[in-house]
Amino acid sequence: MKEHIAKMLAAQKGRHISFHTPGHKRRGADITELSYSDNLAAPRGVLAAAQADCARILGADASFFLTDGSTSGVYSMLLALRRAGAARVAVPVCAHVSVLRGCELAGLVPVPVPQEWERGIARQPSLSACERALSAADALLVTSPDYYGYFPDLRGLAALCAREKKPLLADGAHGSHLHGTPMYAGNFADMWVDGVHKSLPALTQGAVVSAKGAWAARLEAAVPYFRTTSPSYPILSSIEHAVKFPRSERTERAAAWAKAALGAEPNDDWSKIVLPFGEESGAARACLEARGLYPEFDDGNYLMFYLSPASRVRDIKTLVRLAKRLPRGEVRGAPHEKGSCGQKTAALPPEAALGRTCAQTCGLFPPCVPVLLRGERVDEDAVRRLSGALSAFGLEEGKIVVFED
Ligand SMILES: Cc1ncc(COP(=O)(O)O)c(C=O)c1O
Repeated sequence: MKEHIAKMLAAQKGRHISFHTPGHKRRGADITELSYSDNLAAPRGVLAAAQADCARILGADASFFLTDGSTSGVYSMLLALRRAGAARVAVPVCAHVSVLRGCELAGLVPVPVPQEWERGIARQPSLSACERALSAADALLVTSPDYYGYFPDLRGLAALCAREKKPLLADGAHGSHLHGTPMYAGNFADMWVDGVHKSLPALTQGAVVSAKGAWAARLEAAVPYFRTTSPSYPILSSIEHAVKFPRSERTERAAAWAKAALGAEPNDDWSKIVLPFGEESGAARACLEARGLYPEFDDGNYLMFYLSPASRVRDIKTLVRLAKRLPRGEVRGAPHEKGSCGQKTAALPPEAALGRTCAQTCGLFPPCVPVLLRGERVDEDAVRRLSGALSAFGLEEGKIVVFED
């Protein structure tokens, strides 16, 4: 697609006189829907070919390019699900906010799947927790991999969903680099999103949403609701470039070496290096940034370093050299991480839960928005709203689940 557009521009020998958008009127790849550049809303030319190529690479029956990030892919999947008649979808309590917002937009009730916390990180929900939530839902949505590089039991979940005849959706905002490998979410899901701008070399906001079987047509009908009618051609061509970008075994080996050299938190995804600094994380980040090395995030316990096949081995070596010297502290529970593995919980009537820490996200439906997130203090407003609730999620027989002191 990029080559085609470049060829068309070159063929005009600099005589591209713009009486079209964009308003900057500069020559170059930032064009609009012209006779040779196709139209994402009804693709028949270069965009149709690029999407078809990517669908083949990703193992989908149909793939749709997105220029507004994985968020728009999550929304599209949830709208497709709702229009297929689903009313409730099981989602992990630590699902990305786009999942909760997408449920709200589509009119779906999220059924929370509990997650355990271990060493300050929410671990993927167990198969049995998913099974329990799915029994009260019409579909299951999982995040795979998550930001810390953990996979859910995709194989077990796909078998569970097939047995229950309920679709499996995957938020792969952090997993596009895994296509062609056994743990790629698209190998298991009916609909999934790939955040290609995060883990492959695409421009920011580039993403793809894909589907198999009957979900392909439903997804195609849902996608336009969350897409601009003026998609950015630089982002579109970068999506195709990124999906076709080759794996780099050299980078993957360097990542494994760095994880071992730095005592990284063990995880499943080569591209996410998670280093435990505990209370020293802020100081460690500042020290690295002063030397020009920027992690993806500092959660108050861990610094997370995000790689892609475009990461340079020499930069990984620099990370090891600099991070090795930095002092480490004890990993501690952040405010929303009170539920470290093993901590006991109790279900209390709302009034008795006042001032305690919520252990299970809960709220009212409609509008299906959490009143309390796991880890938040139960305040008077939450008590008032939840005790009068006609219909709620995340409560156990009307009681709020809190952590034992
Ligand atoms: C798990 C997860 N899903 C979805 C998204 C949304 O992705 P985007 O920023 O590409 O819209 C994010 C963003 O960080 C995420 O972490």
